[in-house]
Amino acid sequence: MIRRRDFIRTSVACAGALVFARYSPSASAESSSAADSQIEVLLGEPLGIISPNIYGHFVENLSGVVYDGAWVGRNSKVPNVNGIRKELIDEMKKIKPPVVRFPGGCFADSYDWRDGVGPVDKRPRRTNFWDGGEITSAPNHHRYDPNQFGTNEFVQFCKLIGSQPYLAANVRSLPAEAFYRWVEYCNSPTGSTTLADLRAEAGYPDPFGVRYWGVGNEAWGCGGNFTPQEYATEFRRYTAWVPGYKQELSFVASGPNSFEWDWTRGFFEEIVRKGKGQLRSIFGWALHYYSWNLSRGRTQDWDQGKGDALKFDAIDWYELLREGDKMESLINGHWQVMGEIDSEHLVKLVIDEWGPWYHPGSGQTAENQLEQTPTLRDAVFSGMTLDIFNRHPDKVAMAASAQLINCLNSLYLAHEDKFCVTPVGHVFQMYSAHQGGHALRTIFSAPTVNYDRDGKPASFWGLKGSASLHDKELVLTVVNPHVSEARVTEIGVRGASIRSGTATTLTHSDIHAHNSFAGRNVVRPQTKDVEIKGKVLTCTIPPASVTKLSLTLA
Ligand code: AHR
Repeated sequence: MIRRRDFIRTSVACAGALVFARYSPSASAESSSAADSQIEVLLGEPLGIISPNIYGHFVENLSGVVYDGAWVGRNSKVPNVNGIRKELIDEMKKIKPPVVRFPGGCFADSYDWRDGVGPVDKRPRRTNFWDGGEITSAPNHHRYDPNQFGTNEFVQFCKLIGSQPYLAANVRSLPAEAFYRWVEYCNSPTGSTTLADLRAEAGYPDPFGVRYWGVGNEAWGCGGNFTPQEYATEFRRYTAWVPGYKQELSFVASGPNSFEWDWTRGFFEEIVRKGKGQLRSIFGWALHYYSWNLSRGRTQDWDQGKGDALKFDAIDWYELLREGDKMESLINGHWQVMGEIDSEHLVKLVIDEWGPWYHPGSGQTAENQLEQTPTLRDAVFSGMTLDIFNRHPDKVAMAASAQLINCLNSLYLAHEDKFCVTPVGHVFQMYSAHQGGHALRTIFSAPTVNYDRDGKPASFWGLKGSASLHDKELVLTVVNPHVSEARVTEIGVRGASIRSGTATTLTHSDIHAHNSFAGRNVVRPQTKDVEIKGKVLTCTIPPASVTKLSLTLA
């Protein structure tokens, strides 16, 4: 266990005022001699608008995510709004959730949406896709889907938290007609169709206005074991002439797993065999990337390569970040391959599953398959990932962390009446300030982290982050990945001066720190005013931390 006792550990310390019409960190006469790092935000180099949708979420009907996580039922003693966990609603409102993906994941390609509408007491019970992975003590409703949380309940959940629904259609086991009917159920005007009447009978006369539709999920695997060419053909068929009901429909095609460049190339080559115009039917290309291999290069085996969510050393910490940092080359790489055919880049990336994936056993609720307890490491990982998305606003249109609650990179953990916000949830709240801002190119220079990777030298960058401008407000987020060294950092804005600001930092003296039902506030952000004095804004960025600077510019 690594402890870092004798430093400014729990909050960033900043002092100074900064005006650099031409910021030049190394040459600045005002530079603090103690500074070892610099950040320069370039006001004159905008990268594009950060779509709020890159701060999206994923709720799959998988083990404890829906039942016991989001949904407690209308008659539950757990405080709820029409069956949805109230504490979850209250917390989610704080993070400005733009979009939520449902019902899967792999579950989507075994799901018939018709089972989840109509009178709740008449809905069928079905075997859940994830049944095979449930442990014997798992409750029945994990194994056999009671269909109490269907389209109506999901859309109400989205409304309560101020979010948009993103529904994933079943391509593997239902015909295209079922997809059209789902769109009709959700979007056809009041009184217009039998399905609109069915919706009204359930208490929802107004159309749901669902814009985002995933056309299958992981079509290369659980979504049908297609070749990219076969899937492209299916995609064309499923998306041809879907009635829109005056609601713009944005289709997301099932993209690659991690570095599968051939899936991207194969799909794009095939889709345009019917003409380049086909590209206009695709809003997003879904990339899935999980960071799971902590074997330090020893194996590529999915089970053996995974690490533990709670028990890890400093090397495992860096290895996870290194795995996660590959997201940037994935974005650039798939973008380049897409561009070989989609030269105008009409199709954007939708990274609708991302996060660390550890081996089982660290969850707060033992019966929940794929539940793990996120630590400070996962918060730093998540900050780093969101910064990557912010740096590519021209490419990434939407994203979803996998998953929202009780699964993998959870923002929240819940069981019965117990609930907590994880360090990852806190990062999402901090980073929500970036939504809709103009991303700015920002230069980070800091000493590299060097470590020993089982006898071989390895390294990782010393500081990185992202910046966005909202009128006169600058949001700058910074990750310090070093487990024990703070970075004394001079921060400059080329083309403006800083009038005032605050610094919010998430860190802890123990890199394993996490929140739990018994200790809900072990890891939580701290906010301080930035002290303006002198000419240089110098901040001490604590080790193992995520920091958000909210700065008012003059
Ligand atoms: O998020 C868990 C699973 O991971 C999803 O169902 C699937 O799409 C992916 O393989």
